[in-house]
Amino acid sequence: RGLSSPAFSSPCPSGPPAFSFDIDGVLIRGKHVLPEALEAVKKLTAPDGRWRYPVVFMTNGGGVCEARKAAQLSSWLGVQVAPSQVILSHTPMRDLAPQLAGAPVLVSGRGDVLEVARSYGLGRALHTRQLGRAMPAATPFSTYPPSPSPASSKTVPSTAASASAPAASTSTSASAPAAAAAAGAPIPTSAPESNITAAAAAAQYAEPCPVRQQGLGTEEAPIHTVLVMTDPDDWYRDAQLICDVVSGAGVPARSPSAAAAAAAAPVRLVFSNPDLLWANEFPKNRFGQGAFAHMVLSLYSRLTGGGRPPHVTFYGKPNPQPYRLAERLLLAQALELGVPLPEVPPGTLPFSGIYGVGDNPAADVRGANQAGAPWVSVLVRTGVFQGPGPNCDIDTARIAVDDVEAAVEAALHHTR
Ligand code: G3P
Ligand code: MG
Repeated sequence: RGLSSPAFSSPCPSGPPAFSFDIDGVLIRGKHVLPEALEAVKKLTAPDGRWRYPVVFMTNGGGVCEARKAAQLSSWLGVQVAPSQVILSHTPMRDLAPQLAGAPVLVSGRGDVLEVARSYGLGRALHTRQLGRAMPAATPFSTYPPSPSPASSKTVPSTAASASAPAASTSTSASAPAAAAAAGAPIPTSAPESNITAAAAAAQYAEPCPVRQQGLGTEEAPIHTVLVMTDPDDWYRDAQLICDVVSGAGVPARSPSAAAAAAAAPVRLVFSNPDLLWANEFPKNRFGQGAFAHMVLSLYSRLTGGGRPPHVTFYGKPNPQPYRLAERLLLAQALELGVPLPEVPPGTLPFSGIYGVGDNPAADVRGANQAGAPWVSVLVRTGVFQGPGPNCDIDTARIAVDDVEAAVEAALHHTR
């Protein structure tokens, strides 16, 4: 089924359970793996390390490719996690590739989002960092370190990935290849840091509509799509440049002709998740990408006297895209694992429940509740949600427990 097709409609009591685990606030807090996560994994795996039930990891985080996140999870949890078990906030953006493969797309986000976008088939993706560096006067409060030489740009420094790589708090370790991959092996890339010259950027300023980029094509090609793929590393730079692009077709857009072009073909702005808050190792919840989206949309509104960009879309939990993808992946995994599945009528998943375990009521609980049967929302208290009370009054989970180990225990009981 496509990502936009309707949800399956009923649970199958005779089927096995399946699991979808959120990552931040459930399995890890910032740089630390929660001990309950390791216990939960033990309950879900056989002595030989094979998964006993279908499991996916569905996070509103991103900034790395699915294979790298799978390697990180393998290392953190001491069990083999396959890339096909990982759904990042930007994973459903793969489906945009057929329509955007030849088009210039501006991407925003920390980590390796440029390489991720290109791996999804967005061959003409351009990072806000590149755009900002090419015309520094457009974002005067941002700093741009010198471009790396082509020789040194063959590997991407794994700062974002390693900064977000927690240390397992037990001696459990993953397989050697997975651990090596998680340890920060460089990701090869052919993308130089800046492939726009200052002269080309200056030309853009004089001719506001087209974007000319060395190495990204020579024809005039305005940017009509902006993908915020994960939380940006420079909110000021990205808010400024995104407002520039969205308010006119091209960069920067200040001329009447650019405004007319924008009105004729409005720029599409896609955020990979709407999380206002998320939980890292800091004692209080931190702003997430949803806070950045509020900032951009509020600035746009002030700039335009109350307007909203015509095409704004949010991916990520609680929206349906990752849930539909999870259903497909869990079913494929069940078949691959050889888990006995009952015969079910069309439109029914052969699971007694898909337990969506999360810490954020507005993302994880709302998402699982909206996804419908056989999804079962499970709320834990190790992240964003801290009470008061055992459950959230606004987005109320079917099961509310202290942590992910208790969540697995409750799910296995619930399903029996
Ligand atoms: O930036 C990550 C955050 O917004 C949420 O991650 O794993 O809790 O969905 P997660
Ligand atoms: Mg979370």
